[in-house]
Amino acid sequence: MAFVLAVTGSAVGLGNLWKFPYTTGQYGGGAFVLVYLGCVILIGMPVMMSEILIGRRGRRNPVATMALLGAEEGKSTNWSWLGAIGVIAGVLILSYYSVYGGYTVAYIVKILSGVFSNAKATDVIAVRDAFEGSWVSVGLFHTIFMGLSIFVVARGVEGGLERANKFMVPTLFLLLIILLGYSMNTGHFAEGLAFMFTPDFSKLTWEAVLAAMGQAFFSLSIGMGAVMAYGAYLPEETSITTSAAAVAVADTTIAITAGMVIFPLVFANGLDIGAGPSLLFITLPLAFGQMTGGTIFGALFFVLLSFAAWTSAISLLESAVAWVVEKYKRSRAEAATLIGVTCWAIGLGTVLSFNVLKDFRFLRGTIYDNIDFLTINVMLPLGGLFIAIFAGWVMSRNSTAEELGGAGTSYRLWRLLVRFAAPTGILFIFLKAIGLLKLS
Ligand code: PHE
Repeated sequence: MAFVLAVTGSAVGLGNLWKFPYTTGQYGGGAFVLVYLGCVILIGMPVMMSEILIGRRGRRNPVATMALLGAEEGKSTNWSWLGAIGVIAGVLILSYYSVYGGYTVAYIVKILSGVFSNAKATDVIAVRDAFEGSWVSVGLFHTIFMGLSIFVVARGVEGGLERANKFMVPTLFLLLIILLGYSMNTGHFAEGLAFMFTPDFSKLTWEAVLAAMGQAFFSLSIGMGAVMAYGAYLPEETSITTSAAAVAVADTTIAITAGMVIFPLVFANGLDIGAGPSLLFITLPLAFGQMTGGTIFGALFFVLLSFAAWTSAISLLESAVAWVVEKYKRSRAEAATLIGVTCWAIGLGTVLSFNVLKDFRFLRGTIYDNIDFLTINVMLPLGGLFIAIFAGWVMSRNSTAEELGGAGTSYRLWRLLVRFAAPTGILFIFLKAIGLLKLS
């Protein structure tokens, strides 16, 4: 139970409430959602199970675990590289994750101040613009959020955090249901649902498919060793399949519900559905501003969202911290500070992407756009690919069957997915999207 809670705490975060709706908005809705669900089931689930079983078998940080298991299976210890790439991906993701975690904290303060009470869409957008336009404000809350994350990781993850998760995820979901009720009454609920659930495949590009797959990895926290690091603490007798399924169901339900809350609000208020990263910070303040008791509900919602982001940020730090602690024999506090400050410094690039360096664009866009693309659309899918290859082809049937509780039907299905479906699926989508594979 504690494990499922910890992994759920890692999985449920800004990916579900912030990134899923805005990415779905940018890529045109229905077809994107369908591909996303397909990726969660056919690729995400088997990869998550692989990460957990690798983590539990190695019982070390991801870098050392990959080296150990590589050797144990009579193959190369160079598999440690896979762990190392995961550690780097975690650092890069946390660098911008913390900036948006900072937004959620800032919005608690803003809602409480009453600026959104009875505000119109233009007012809410003006507040967002003023906040985003000031690198000092964004930077300040980025600093606060990162400080909080370092603090918890430095003190050791267990205890308080697990208890927080147990309360936080269900309460967040409850508030989401209340918001759903509000959305249903906007008069644009059907329109929102149609956007999310009517697939229009003519709008679907290969880049959108890759983004859906990357989003599945991001939301489930897989492809970079975070779940592997948590798996290291999993008791022998716990079922990996059941745990992974529970996490995937919780995570997906929350993401889909968030979409069902946000899209009707977008249509009801004539907002731009492709608004990008700040979509959540426009739609929700607007809704809370019009609700009775919206100040309290709104503040509570953003408190919970900050918590959800916090528990995810901690898991993003964990693999790098575990690695520094074990490899360089540092204390947790030193390691957490070292890694956290590094992430913070890289994060300044994202802080500046919306103001001072807004027009500084290269490759995919701003600094944030580039780090986002590199991590979510490149590092996580490729990390997932190699994790699948490792679990499916490098590890022996005996080792994996032992971890997954014997060679029954579900084991055979997992092995089929992890050996064939996941690797070919990931590779195909990746090559197609970056234009290296030209099939008509
Ligand atoms: N899954 C987290 C979220 O949805 C983000 C995350 C990604 C956490 C990768 C850990 C590892 O917000």
